[in-house]
This record gives sequence, C-alpha cells and structure tokens, in this order.
Amino acid sequence: MRRALAFVAALVCGSAAAADFGRQPLADSREPPAYAPLSGDEGARYELGLRVFNTQWVVAGTPRAMRIDGLGPLFNVGSCDGCHNDGARGRGPEGDGPVPGSLVLQLQRDAGPDPVYGHTLNVAAIDGLDAEAALSVHYRARRGRYPDGALWTLRVPAYRVEALRDGALAADTILRPRIAPALYGVGLLERISDAQRRRWAADPAARRDGIRGERAGRFGWQGASVSLAEQTARAFSREMGLTTRLLPADDCTPAQTRCRLADGGVPEVDDALFAAVLAFQQKLAVPAVPRRSDQEERAGAALFAAAGCALCHRPRASVRLGDGRSVTIAAYSDLLLHDLGPGLTDRDVAGRVVTSRWRTAPLWAVGLVPRTGVPTYLHDGRALSLEQAVLWHDGEAARARQRFEALGGARREQLLAWLARR
Ligand code: HEC
Ligand code: HEC
Repeated sequence: MRRALAFVAALVCGSAAAADFGRQPLADSREPPAYAPLSGDEGARYELGLRVFNTQWVVAGTPRAMRIDGLGPLFNVGSCDGCHNDGARGRGPEGDGPVPGSLVLQLQRDAGPDPVYGHTLNVAAIDGLDAEAALSVHYRARRGRYPDGALWTLRVPAYRVEALRDGALAADTILRPRIAPALYGVGLLERISDAQRRRWAADPAARRDGIRGERAGRFGWQGASVSLAEQTARAFSREMGLTTRLLPADDCTPAQTRCRLADGGVPEVDDALFAAVLAFQQKLAVPAVPRRSDQEERAGAALFAAAGCALCHRPRASVRLGDGRSVTIAAYSDLLLHDLGPGLTDRDVAGRVVTSRWRTAPLWAVGLVPRTGVPTYLHDGRALSLEQAVLWHDGEAARARQRFEALGGARREQLLAWLARR
C-alpha cells in the first residue's frame, strides 16, 4: 500500500518536483504559507511573525499601543508589509514623479553613511517633525534594435532629492535607489552553503564567459547583509525608526538633535516580536507557479542554459534544513556579486559613477506580479518587464545578453514565458 502511494506521488509531482523544494500553493496572498509543516509552537510563532510583518507601528507613547509603538521619529513606511507586499516584490515607480515608499534611497560613502542624513533618506516623519526630503524620478527613453530588427525601449532613471531639511548631502555620498525585493524563500537562501558559493565563484565555465562572482553577504541587492537577522534589524532601524537589541539606534545622526530627542527607548521592538518576524521569514515558502508541459519546461531551461544565464542564475542548489535533511531548491541565483556594467551603476551626489556589484537576483517566482500596480524589476524597479530586465544586463552578463538578443523573436518569447513561470 505504501509503495503504491509513493508511486502515485511520483507520477503527480514528476521529476522536477524533487529539485524544487520550498514551493507551496499561494491560495491567498495575504496568508503566505510556510515551506514545511510547522509544529504547534513553530506555527504559533510563524503566525505571530506574519502579524508583526503586517503591523502598522505607531508613535512612541500612543495609548494602548500594546508593544507596537516607537515608530520614527524619521522613517519611510510604518510596516514591513507596506514595502514588501505580503512577501512579494515592492512596487517601483510607474512613471515620472514622486517615487512610491517601497523605493528607498540609501545613502552611503566609503567612510560610512551620509554625515547628516544617515543610512537612509527618510521621506516621512512623525507629527511635529519634517521628513528629511522628498524623492522623485524622471525617466528618459533609450531605444535600440535586436539583430532581427525588432525594437526595444528601456527607461533610464534620473533621481531628484528635493526639500532637504538639514542642508546638502555630502558630495561623495552615493545615492542608492533600491526597491524592496520579494521575501519568498529567503530562509532557504540563508541555507545555501558558503562552500557552494565558493565552488560557483571558481567555476571555469563561468570564467570563460567573463563572469567573476564575488562573495559578500546574502541579502540586499548588493549582499550588504550577512543574515536575515541583520537585514531585519536594519529595516527596523533605518526604514522604520525602531530600535532592536541588535541595532539599538535609529537612523538619526549627531547633526539631527530633534530626531535624537524624540526617542522611544531601547529596544522598541521587543525580543519576542523580533524573533517572531525572523521565524516567519525563515520559514516563508516560495509560491508554486503552474507549469506547462514537460516539453516546454525542458525547452525553456535549455535556452536559459545555452544563453549562459544559468552561470549566474544557478538553477539548482542543495541545502541542509534544520532537521538535517538535504533538499534541492531552484532559486536561480549563485548569491554572488557581479558587475553588470555602467548602465546599472549608482552615482554619488557630485554625479560621479560608482562601480557597483549586484547580487544575482533569485528568479524563483519572478513572474508573480503584485496585487496592484505594474510589476517592476531590477534593483530600482526601472525595468517594466522581464524582457527589459534582461536587456539591462551588461558587464559580466554582456555575453549572455547578446545570446538572448540573437535568439530571434519566437525563441526570446519562449524563454521569457518560461522565466515568468519559475
Ligand atoms: C521602506 C521600505 C521597506 C520597509 C518598511 C522594509 N523593507 Fe525590507 N527591504 C527594503 C529594501 C529597499 C530592501 C533592499 C535593501 C538593499 O538592497 O540593501 C529590502 C530588503 C529586505 C530583505 C532582504 C531580501 C533579499 O532577498 O535580499 C529582507 C529579508 C527584508 N527586507 C525584510 C524586511 C522586514 C522583516 C521588514 C520589517 C521589519 C522590512 N524589510 C521593512 C525595503 C523595506
Ligand atoms: C553575470 C551574471 C548574470 C548573468 C549571466 C545573467 N544575470 Fe540576470 N541578473 C544578474 C544580476 C546581478 C541581477 C540583478 C541586477 C540589478 O538588480 O541591478 C540580475 C537580474 C535579473 C532579472 C531581474 C530580477 C528581478 O528580481 O528584478 C532577470 C529577469 C534576469 N536577471 C534574467 C536573466 C536572464 C534571462 C539571463 C540570460 C540571458 C541572465 N539574467 C543572465 C546576474 C546575471
């Protein structure tokens, strides 16, 4: 009887399922499931974590706030969900004008954060204080042609920081516009081993294509955070103005005295709530996407590999779970940093281009679009389609992009359709 059931399961799931651990159907996007069954305690912590994730934090001292106060005084958005959309990617700008809250302008110099404005340009503040500034974007069209003559258009962003409250930004502060990435499966990304990343970085096939992966942290578009705990503490501190035991200061600099006075103490996020939102992320599944036929699966994967995409967007990784089991995930990333060419680099306030290295964006569930608004791709949401995202690839990914361009219209469409179902 047991054997018969196993046989049926193998038929239903097919061979691909064995290499696609972590996927779960997303019946309701507001209730994103865990990738594995949770015990009673774990389940309760996951549920609490989801609630913390969705919590709109309030100003310190708000009556009956029940542990969810301390927001600001400077911040960007008052909840994780406000930027991360039930775990899905954040909304990028649809067009010219003020940018949505889920696009954050990070401020970074070689020597550290901006001396006056800190790590993040905070575009909101609690009552009685002014926001640090307002951020808007203007796009210019860049047009080109595929070898087969088909036209493409990209939008090239120019950001503008206005109404700076405390004077100018430092001339050498690098402006780093970043949209909130999807959080699906981040707990599994955290489990990809360093040994695996080192092997990918040393892969001669990648080297032959001019690809030199560099190891940094695993999280953020540039691998700036080494762990989910670090990333979460930074989000609380820099984007929400909430202190944690890990990061007991808001993003107020010594120059911002009023910001430093309006403080809700340390930690504003207590340890239990921090642990819960961490546990939620560590167990969050990747939404399962309906697949077409095996034949389409194989053809799409073959195009992806032949173009050289898979040398960075590694289709398979073996990870060890908390219970010791090894499973294979299909995250489509090497979690290494790559130079993707001058078109994608950041600039500093003085307008100097800064060489920028990007973490290979995981492509699982990349085709899932947010509940509202248009989907936007790449670190600042400049690409309005998967096709535009690919066309921005240059630098270490130049050969792959050229092979994509040379595929011809029908096979490009085939590859993009396959990509949308990862
Ligand atoms: C104002 C918008 C905003 C808020 C609020 C916010 N985030 Fe983020 N989040 C971002 C941006 C932007 C990035 C990319 C950061 C980078 O590239 O350095 C990010 C990155 C992340 C990542 C890394 C994902 C990856 O694959 O690299 C995690 C995890 C994360 N956020 C969790 C959280 C949690 C938990 C909260 C609430 C405590 C939160 N964020 C609140 C905007 C936000
Ligand atoms: C040299 C490594 C490299 C190669 C080769 C490469 N990519 Fe990427 N890819 C990246 C990096 C790094 C990013 C993130 C860049 C950014 O956000 O600025 C990215 C981003 C993407 C995105 C956007 C993901 C998102 O979440 O916004 C898509 C889609 C994509 N790549 C598809 C492809 C396809 C298709 C190919 C092959 C034609 C390919 N890539 C080849 C490194 C690579």
